[in-house]
Amino acid sequence: MPAVTLTTLNGLKAKGEKITMLTCYDATFAKAASEAGVEVLLVGDSLGMVLQGHDSTLPVSTADMAYHTACVKRGNAGALILADLPFMAHATCEQALANSATLMQAGAHMVKIEGAAWLAETITLLAQRGVPVCAHLGLTPQAVNVFGGYKVQGRQEAQAEQLRRDAQALERAGAAMLLLECVPSALASEISQAVSIPVIGIGAGSGTDGQVLVLHDMLGLSLSGRVARFVKNFMVGQQDIQGALAAYVAAVKDVSFPASEHGFSA
Ligand code: KIV
Repeated sequence: MPAVTLTTLNGLKAKGEKITMLTCYDATFAKAASEAGVEVLLVGDSLGMVLQGHDSTLPVSTADMAYHTACVKRGNAGALILADLPFMAHATCEQALANSATLMQAGAHMVKIEGAAWLAETITLLAQRGVPVCAHLGLTPQAVNVFGGYKVQGRQEAQAEQLRRDAQALERAGAAMLLLECVPSALASEISQAVSIPVIGIGAGSGTDGQVLVLHDMLGLSLSGRVARFVKNFMVGQQDIQGALAAYVAAVKDVSFPASEHGFSA
């Protein structure tokens, strides 16, 4: 299989084929997930919670992200590697440039940044310097203390309108991809159609151009014991992890996942 690039992802959106993404933090799972057909491996700062045992993603450093990105690169068999800029790593444009360089040199093909329209200048600078950016909108876990918890975003019309505007502003600024987390399914679907770049959803319904889940969640593992509404345990009915990864890819591709019960209403 040829390596997945941004061109591949744009092509999938153009032909209406769903994009598959999973978080990944090490070489063994990178090999397993990429060989199962997962197109994008997200080295998410969720590693602060699922690997390091913190109660939020805030303690994660750029050095942590670079270490896990390099691990994923060693096992990857052709997926596109997307790495998170962790909390405060893009507080200024200069920090965003330096920390993105660290992640790209560790093996990322694209970086993901949580924020909103205020990221426009940062995204333009990164894109001009050869760093494709995925902008993460909606429930951005690094802002959990601003939101007062992990809450669905965009339920009120004013918030929904702000998200529509943010998405379009970030596409204009040069974002190569968007990720929408925990937004009402109808709104996520509308935004996906309004922009020309691929939109990946988590807790955002089936109308986005692709889906992502945290690897440990879809394997039925939970440190806290809490399982979010948008999670499906793909180990159920499978004999091994390879089976669960293949079932996830198949379910995203045939749009049987996410089902309506995994999404949120306005
Ligand atoms: O860090 C992460 O794993 C993420 C996903 C929840 C989308 O950003």
